[in-house]
Amino acid sequence: MPSASRPTPPVLSDGVITLRPPRPDDADDITAACQDPQTQLWTTIPVPYRRADAEEWLAARATPEQWWQAPVWAVTVAPSDRWSGNIAVRPDGAGGAEIGYMVAPWARGHGVATRTIRLACTWAFGALDLSVVTWYAYAGNEVSRRAARRVGFRIPDVVLRRHLPHRGERRDAWVGDLLPGDIATAQRRAEAHYLGPALTHRELDVLGQLTRGESNKAIAAVLGISENTVKNHVRSILEKLQAKSRAEAVVIGLGQGLTSLPT
Ligand SMILES: CC(C)(COP(=O)(O)OP(=O)(O)OC[C@H]1O[C@@H](n2cnc3c(N)ncnc32)[C@H](O)[C@@H]1OP(=O)(O)O)[C@@H](O)C(=O)NCCC(=O)NCCS
Repeated sequence: MPSASRPTPPVLSDGVITLRPPRPDDADDITAACQDPQTQLWTTIPVPYRRADAEEWLAARATPEQWWQAPVWAVTVAPSDRWSGNIAVRPDGAGGAEIGYMVAPWARGHGVATRTIRLACTWAFGALDLSVVTWYAYAGNEVSRRAARRVGFRIPDVVLRRHLPHRGERRDAWVGDLLPGDIATAQRRAEAHYLGPALTHRELDVLGQLTRGESNKAIAAVLGISENTVKNHVRSILEKLQAKSRAEAVVIGLGQGLTSLPT
């Protein structure tokens, strides 16, 4: 029996990025992006990746029926309509879904992933009536974790050992969950944001370790930097937050949403 016809896949936009259904003429850009070593490291795309892989992937998502089984969008960045990434929402049929995404190397570092995840998850909670969205990443994918946390995912500092397959082996994983109210909560927190001098990514990492009560030596080992560099970061954090001690920096950081207690 033919499947009931499904509506045309939706186009979503926040004014900066637009998510549209993928098209056959995206194949060249997908092929180019999938040569990127980071994409190969953190996803399960075929390696080597050929244009035929992109064509096959696109063909499997060509009809509205296929699309609605696992919604997937091409990410585009205004004013261009060029394919610059993908995001997929994979429903489990029981009120949950998993997300997966990538941003092309030429579009990275401008908040595109953060906007993309926020837009797709907001849509999915409403349109698919989800009660939870789950995020998995191979352990160590800091940039992806940062984007997901920024959107509102709760990602505990826990490693699931050998949890995910990756080209014939198993790798450690991180997991996060997002409930319907979490995006709005994260946005409210960001709006009540810290108005002092911005902490660098490294300083935020160090502040996170201070929140865990780690010593300079332990922080140096975790972040792969010298103890002296840790000391410099701590000094700079104290100055920026106008804190007199590490403990006070943590309290201020927690109050301003710059760090969170380990779960
Ligand atoms: C992970 C990925 C999607 C991020 O895309 P992006 O558009 O560059 O991400 P954003 O610009 O939204 O940045 C997300 C966060 O990481 C930070 N970030 C971005 N690039 C960074 C870098 N090179 N080093 C450190 N932090 C970085 C951003 O500042 C931001 O954090 P903030 O909100 O606290 O400032 C992209 O790098 C990618 O496609 N990687 C390969 C595939 C992959 O890992 N997919 C996800 C699998 S779970």
